Amino acid sequence: MKTIKALGVVGAGTMGSGIAQLAAQNNIQVLLYDNQPGAVQSAVAKIQERLTRAVDRGQMPRGALEQTLNNIIEKSSLESFKDAEAVIEAVVEVMDIKKAVFRQLSEIVAPSAILATNTSSFSITELAGVTPRPKLVVGMHFFNPAPIMKLVEIVRGEDTADETVESAQHLASQMNKETVVVQKDTPGFIVNRILMPLFIEAMRILEEGVASPEDIDKAVKLGLNHPMGPLTLADFTGLDVDLEVMDYLYDEFRDDRFAAPQVLRRLVRAGHLGKKAHRGFYHYPS
Ligand SMILES: NC(=O)c1ccc[n+]([C@@H]2O[C@H](COP(=O)([O-])OP(=O)(O)OC[C@H]3O[C@@H](n4cnc5c(N)ncnc54)[C@H](O)[C@@H]3O)[C@@H](O)[C@H]2O)c1
Repeated sequence: MKTIKALGVVGAGTMGSGIAQLAAQNNIQVLLYDNQPGAVQSAVAKIQERLTRAVDRGQMPRGALEQTLNNIIEKSSLESFKDAEAVIEAVVEVMDIKKAVFRQLSEIVAPSAILATNTSSFSITELAGVTPRPKLVVGMHFFNPAPIMKLVEIVRGEDTADETVESAQHLASQMNKETVVVQKDTPGFIVNRILMPLFIEAMRILEEGVASPEDIDKAVKLGLNHPMGPLTLADFTGLDVDLEVMDYLYDEFRDDRFAAPQVLRRLVRAGHLGKKAHRGFYHYPS
Protein backbone atom coordinates (compact mmCIF):
# COMPACT_ATOMS: atom_id res chain seq x y z
CA MET A 1 0.00 0.00 0.00
CA LYS A 2 1.24 3.42 -0.93
CA THR A 3 2.52 5.66 1.85
CA ILE A 4 1.26 9.18 1.29
CA LYS A 5 4.02 11.79 1.25
CA ALA A 6 2.03 14.78 -0.04
CA LEU A 7 -1.50 15.38 1.26
CA GLY A 8 -3.85 18.16 0.16
CA VAL A 9 -6.21 19.61 2.78
CA VAL A 10 -9.04 21.85 1.55
CA GLY A 11 -10.55 24.15 4.17
CA ALA A 12 -8.43 25.62 6.96
CA GLY A 13 -11.12 25.97 9.64
CA THR A 14 -11.38 24.00 12.88
CA MET A 15 -11.07 20.57 11.26
CA GLY A 16 -8.87 21.38 8.27
CA SER A 17 -6.27 23.09 10.43
CA GLY A 18 -6.36 20.22 12.94
CA ILE A 19 -5.92 17.62 10.19
CA ALA A 20 -3.12 19.68 8.61
CA GLN A 21 -1.30 19.90 11.96
CA LEU A 22 -1.76 16.19 12.60
CA ALA A 23 -0.45 15.16 9.17
CA ALA A 24 2.47 17.58 9.34
CA GLN A 25 3.43 16.32 12.82
CA ASN A 26 3.56 12.84 11.31
CA ASN A 27 6.01 13.80 8.56
CA ILE A 28 3.50 14.19 5.76
CA GLN A 29 3.88 17.24 3.55
CA VAL A 30 0.59 19.14 3.63
CA LEU A 31 -0.72 21.49 0.95
CA LEU A 32 -3.28 23.67 2.73
CA TYR A 33 -5.90 25.78 0.91
CA ASP A 34 -8.93 27.82 1.96
CA ASN A 35 -10.97 30.13 -0.25
CA GLN A 36 -11.21 32.86 2.43
CA PRO A 37 -8.30 35.30 2.12
CA GLY A 38 -6.01 35.03 5.17
CA ALA A 39 -7.65 31.83 6.49
CA VAL A 40 -4.64 29.60 5.74
CA GLN A 41 -2.22 32.07 7.32
CA SER A 42 -4.36 32.38 10.42
CA ALA A 43 -4.68 28.56 10.64
CA VAL A 44 -0.90 28.21 10.48
CA ALA A 45 -0.47 30.93 13.13
CA LYS A 46 -2.86 29.03 15.44
CA ILE A 47 -1.01 25.76 14.83
CA GLN A 48 2.24 27.55 15.71
CA GLU A 49 0.66 28.90 18.92
CA ARG A 50 -0.59 25.45 19.94
CA LEU A 51 2.77 23.81 19.25
CA THR A 52 4.71 26.57 21.00
CA ARG A 53 2.61 25.92 24.11
CA ALA A 54 3.45 22.19 23.81
CA VAL A 55 7.18 23.05 23.52
CA ASP A 56 6.98 25.39 26.52
CA ARG A 57 5.36 22.63 28.58
CA GLY A 58 8.13 20.23 27.57
CA GLN A 59 5.72 18.03 25.58
CA MET A 60 7.47 18.53 22.26
CA PRO A 61 11.07 19.27 21.20
CA ARG A 62 11.55 22.63 19.45
CA GLY A 63 12.97 20.84 16.40
CA ALA A 64 9.68 18.97 15.97
CA LEU A 65 7.78 22.27 15.99
CA GLU A 66 9.97 23.65 13.22
CA GLN A 67 9.72 20.42 11.24
CA THR A 68 5.92 20.42 11.55
CA LEU A 69 5.62 24.01 10.34
CA ASN A 70 8.03 23.29 7.47
CA ASN A 71 5.76 20.44 6.41
CA ILE A 72 2.81 22.79 5.87
CA ILE A 73 2.77 24.58 2.54
CA GLU A 74 0.29 27.43 2.27
CA LYS A 75 -1.53 27.39 -1.06
CA SER A 76 -3.58 30.15 -2.61
CA SER A 77 -5.37 28.03 -5.21
CA LEU A 78 -6.56 24.48 -5.71
CA GLU A 79 -4.63 24.31 -8.99
CA SER A 80 -1.44 23.91 -6.96
CA PHE A 81 -2.78 20.58 -5.59
CA LYS A 82 -1.67 18.70 -8.69
CA ASP A 83 1.12 16.91 -6.80
CA ALA A 84 -1.11 15.79 -3.91
CA GLU A 85 -1.32 11.99 -3.70
CA ALA A 86 -4.49 12.22 -1.62
CA VAL A 87 -6.77 15.09 -0.61
CA ILE A 88 -8.94 15.50 2.48
CA GLU A 89 -11.77 17.98 2.05
CA ALA A 90 -12.82 19.82 5.23
CA VAL A 91 -14.86 22.76 3.91
CA VAL A 92 -18.18 23.86 5.41
CA GLU A 93 -20.98 21.29 5.67
CA VAL A 94 -22.85 22.48 2.56
CA MET A 95 -23.39 19.80 -0.10
CA ASP A 96 -23.18 22.10 -3.13
CA ILE A 97 -19.91 23.62 -1.91
CA LYS A 98 -18.42 20.18 -1.28
CA LYS A 99 -19.56 18.99 -4.72
CA ALA A 100 -17.95 22.01 -6.39
CA VAL A 101 -14.66 21.29 -4.57
CA PHE A 102 -14.77 17.61 -5.59
CA ARG A 103 -15.51 18.48 -9.23
CA GLN A 104 -12.59 20.90 -9.29
CA LEU A 105 -10.22 18.51 -7.51
CA SER A 106 -10.94 15.66 -9.89
CA GLU A 107 -9.75 17.81 -12.76
CA ILE A 108 -6.56 18.81 -10.96
CA VAL A 109 -5.10 15.87 -9.05
CA ALA A 110 -3.58 12.72 -10.62
CA PRO A 111 -6.17 10.13 -11.73
CA SER A 112 -4.84 7.76 -9.04
CA ALA A 113 -5.25 10.24 -6.15
CA ILE A 114 -7.76 9.47 -3.41
CA LEU A 115 -10.40 12.08 -2.61
CA ALA A 116 -11.53 11.91 1.00
CA THR A 117 -14.20 13.95 2.73
CA ASN A 118 -14.42 14.81 6.42
CA THR A 119 -18.19 15.34 6.18
CA SER A 120 -20.04 14.61 9.44
CA SER A 121 -23.26 13.64 7.73
CA PHE A 122 -23.47 13.74 3.95
CA SER A 123 -23.67 10.77 1.63
CA ILE A 124 -20.25 9.74 0.31
CA THR A 125 -21.97 8.16 -2.71
CA GLU A 126 -23.70 11.42 -3.65
CA LEU A 127 -20.42 13.35 -3.40
CA ALA A 128 -18.54 10.69 -5.36
CA GLY A 129 -21.17 10.96 -8.10
CA VAL A 130 -19.82 14.34 -9.24
CA THR A 131 -16.37 12.88 -9.93
CA PRO A 132 -15.24 10.52 -12.69
CA ARG A 133 -13.49 8.44 -9.98
CA PRO A 134 -16.14 7.27 -7.50
CA LYS A 135 -14.00 4.21 -6.66
CA LEU A 136 -11.39 6.56 -5.19
CA VAL A 137 -13.79 8.59 -3.03
CA VAL A 138 -14.08 7.75 0.67
CA GLY A 139 -15.19 9.32 3.95
CA MET A 140 -12.51 10.02 6.54
CA HIS A 141 -14.40 11.37 9.53
CA PHE A 142 -11.99 12.88 12.06
CA PHE A 143 -13.09 14.16 15.45
CA ASN A 144 -12.41 17.50 17.06
CA PRO A 145 -9.64 18.27 18.03
CA ALA A 146 -8.15 16.16 15.24
CA PRO A 147 -4.57 16.09 16.62
CA ILE A 148 -5.86 14.57 19.87
CA MET A 149 -8.91 12.38 19.19
CA LYS A 150 -7.76 8.85 18.38
CA LEU A 151 -10.52 7.76 15.99
CA VAL A 152 -11.16 8.17 12.27
CA GLU A 153 -14.35 6.65 10.86
CA ILE A 154 -13.60 5.37 7.36
CA VAL A 155 -16.83 5.50 5.38
CA ARG A 156 -17.40 3.41 2.29
CA GLY A 157 -19.60 4.85 -0.46
CA GLU A 158 -21.57 2.52 -2.76
CA ASP A 159 -18.75 2.60 -5.33
CA THR A 160 -15.69 2.93 -3.08
CA ALA A 161 -13.08 0.29 -3.97
CA ASP A 162 -11.69 -2.02 -1.26
CA GLU A 163 -8.20 -0.68 -2.03
CA THR A 164 -9.42 2.87 -1.37
CA VAL A 165 -10.76 1.85 2.04
CA GLU A 166 -7.41 0.16 2.78
CA SER A 167 -5.47 3.22 1.59
CA ALA A 168 -7.57 5.50 3.80
CA GLN A 169 -6.91 3.21 6.77
CA HIS A 170 -3.21 3.29 5.96
CA LEU A 171 -3.24 7.09 5.71
CA ALA A 172 -4.97 7.30 9.10
CA SER A 173 -2.37 4.95 10.58
CA GLN A 174 0.40 7.16 9.15
CA MET A 175 -1.20 9.87 11.33
CA ASN A 176 -1.19 7.53 14.31
CA LYS A 177 -4.98 7.11 14.38
CA GLU A 178 -7.22 4.14 15.02
CA THR A 179 -9.90 3.41 12.42
CA VAL A 180 -13.28 1.75 12.16
CA VAL A 181 -14.86 0.98 8.79
CA VAL A 182 -18.45 2.07 8.22
CA GLN A 183 -19.47 -0.50 5.61
CA LYS A 184 -22.67 1.25 4.52
CA ASP A 185 -23.00 4.88 3.54
CA THR A 186 -25.56 5.71 6.19
CA PRO A 187 -26.38 9.03 7.94
CA GLY A 188 -24.49 9.71 11.15
CA PHE A 189 -22.09 6.83 10.50
CA ILE A 190 -21.46 5.09 13.86
CA VAL A 191 -20.47 7.73 16.38
CA ASN A 192 -23.05 10.45 15.70
CA ARG A 193 -25.81 7.88 15.36
CA ILE A 194 -25.07 6.69 18.89
CA LEU A 195 -24.23 10.11 20.31
CA MET A 196 -27.32 12.05 19.18
CA PRO A 197 -29.86 9.81 20.95
CA LEU A 198 -27.68 10.06 24.09
CA PHE A 199 -27.76 13.87 23.89
CA ILE A 200 -31.50 13.84 23.17
CA GLU A 201 -32.34 11.60 26.13
CA ALA A 202 -30.20 13.73 28.48
CA MET A 203 -32.03 16.87 27.24
CA ARG A 204 -35.44 15.21 27.65
CA ILE A 205 -34.58 14.19 31.22
CA LEU A 206 -33.72 17.83 31.85
CA GLU A 207 -36.97 19.07 30.23
CA GLU A 208 -39.04 16.68 32.32
CA GLY A 209 -37.42 18.04 35.49
CA VAL A 210 -36.20 14.56 36.45
CA ALA A 211 -32.79 15.84 37.53
CA SER A 212 -30.61 18.94 37.47
CA PRO A 213 -28.16 19.40 34.56
CA GLU A 214 -25.26 18.92 36.98
CA ASP A 215 -26.69 15.59 38.16
CA ILE A 216 -27.47 14.37 34.64
CA ASP A 217 -23.83 14.93 33.64
CA LYS A 218 -22.54 13.49 36.92
CA ALA A 219 -24.71 10.38 36.53
CA VAL A 220 -23.32 9.61 33.08
CA LYS A 221 -19.74 10.42 34.08
CA LEU A 222 -19.68 8.31 37.20
CA GLY A 223 -22.30 5.71 36.32
CA LEU A 224 -21.11 5.01 32.78
CA ASN A 225 -17.50 6.08 33.13
CA HIS A 226 -17.74 8.73 30.40
CA PRO A 227 -15.05 11.43 30.66
CA MET A 228 -17.62 14.19 30.09
CA GLY A 229 -21.37 14.42 30.75
CA PRO A 230 -23.67 14.56 27.68
CA LEU A 231 -24.94 18.11 28.34
CA THR A 232 -21.41 19.47 28.62
CA LEU A 233 -20.28 17.47 25.60
CA ALA A 234 -23.24 18.71 23.53
CA ASP A 235 -22.18 22.24 24.45
CA PHE A 236 -18.58 21.59 23.41
CA THR A 237 -19.67 20.14 20.08
CA GLY A 238 -21.68 23.30 19.36
CA LEU A 239 -25.42 23.43 20.08
CA ASP A 240 -26.17 24.73 16.57
CA VAL A 241 -24.19 21.86 15.05
CA ASP A 242 -25.97 19.32 17.30
CA LEU A 243 -29.33 20.66 16.16
CA GLU A 244 -28.36 20.49 12.49
CA VAL A 245 -27.14 16.91 12.88
CA MET A 246 -30.33 15.84 14.74
CA ASP A 247 -32.57 17.49 12.14
CA TYR A 248 -30.60 15.81 9.36
CA LEU A 249 -30.82 12.37 10.99
CA TYR A 250 -34.53 12.90 11.68
CA ASP A 251 -35.15 13.83 8.03
CA GLU A 252 -33.24 10.80 6.81
CA PHE A 253 -34.62 8.17 9.21
CA ARG A 254 -38.04 9.72 10.08
CA ASP A 255 -37.47 8.27 13.53
CA ASP A 256 -38.31 9.97 16.85
CA ARG A 257 -35.02 8.73 18.29
CA PHE A 258 -33.48 11.69 16.45
CA ALA A 259 -36.17 14.33 17.15
CA ALA A 260 -34.43 17.41 18.60
CA PRO A 261 -35.84 18.42 22.02
CA GLN A 262 -37.42 21.85 22.46
CA VAL A 263 -34.82 22.87 25.04
CA LEU A 264 -32.13 22.60 22.38
CA ARG A 265 -34.11 24.60 19.81
CA ARG A 266 -34.83 27.28 22.41
CA LEU A 267 -31.18 27.61 23.38
CA VAL A 268 -30.02 27.79 19.76
CA ARG A 269 -32.69 30.41 18.93
CA ALA A 270 -31.56 32.38 21.98
CA GLY A 271 -28.02 32.39 20.59
CA HIS A 272 -26.43 29.74 22.84
CA LEU A 273 -24.23 28.15 20.21
CA GLY A 274 -21.90 26.33 22.57
CA LYS A 275 -18.38 25.35 21.47
CA LYS A 276 -16.74 27.15 24.38
CA ALA A 277 -18.50 25.26 27.18
CA HIS A 278 -20.96 28.06 27.93
CA ARG A 279 -22.95 25.37 29.67
CA GLY A 280 -26.21 26.65 28.20
CA PHE A 281 -28.14 23.74 29.75
CA TYR A 282 -26.83 24.59 33.21
CA HIS A 283 -28.87 27.80 33.07
CA TYR A 284 -32.07 26.11 31.84
CA PRO A 285 -34.89 27.18 32.10
CA SER A 286 -33.75 30.75 32.81
N1 LIG B 1 -16.20 20.94 13.98
C1 LIG B 1 -16.34 19.66 14.29
O1 LIG B 1 -16.43 19.28 15.45
C2 LIG B 1 -16.35 18.62 13.17
C3 LIG B 1 -16.05 17.29 13.49
C4 LIG B 1 -16.01 16.34 12.45
C5 LIG B 1 -16.29 16.72 11.16
N2 LIG B 1 -16.61 18.03 10.88
C6 LIG B 1 -16.85 18.39 9.47
O2 LIG B 1 -15.67 19.00 8.97
C7 LIG B 1 -16.01 19.96 7.98
C8 LIG B 1 -15.43 21.31 8.36
O3 LIG B 1 -15.96 21.69 9.61
P1 LIG B 1 -15.26 22.83 10.50
O4 LIG B 1 -15.88 22.73 11.84
O5 LIG B 1 -13.79 22.76 10.32
O6 LIG B 1 -15.81 24.13 9.76
P2 LIG B 1 -15.18 25.61 9.77
O7 LIG B 1 -16.32 26.51 9.47
O8 LIG B 1 -14.37 25.83 10.99
O9 LIG B 1 -14.17 25.60 8.52
C9 LIG B 1 -14.59 25.47 7.19
C10 LIG B 1 -13.58 26.19 6.31
O10 LIG B 1 -13.90 25.89 4.95
C11 LIG B 1 -13.60 27.06 4.18
N3 LIG B 1 -14.28 26.97 2.90
C12 LIG B 1 -15.59 27.15 2.61
N4 LIG B 1 -15.82 26.96 1.30
C13 LIG B 1 -14.61 26.65 0.74
C14 LIG B 1 -14.21 26.33 -0.58
N5 LIG B 1 -15.05 26.31 -1.60
N6 LIG B 1 -12.89 26.09 -0.80
C15 LIG B 1 -12.00 26.12 0.23
N7 LIG B 1 -12.34 26.40 1.51
C16 LIG B 1 -13.64 26.66 1.76
C17 LIG B 1 -14.07 28.20 5.07
O11 LIG B 1 -13.48 29.42 4.68
C18 LIG B 1 -13.62 27.71 6.46
O12 LIG B 1 -12.32 28.19 6.76
C19 LIG B 1 -17.52 19.93 7.86
O13 LIG B 1 -17.88 19.05 6.83
C20 LIG B 1 -17.95 19.40 9.22
O14 LIG B 1 -19.22 18.76 9.18
C21 LIG B 1 -16.63 18.99 11.85
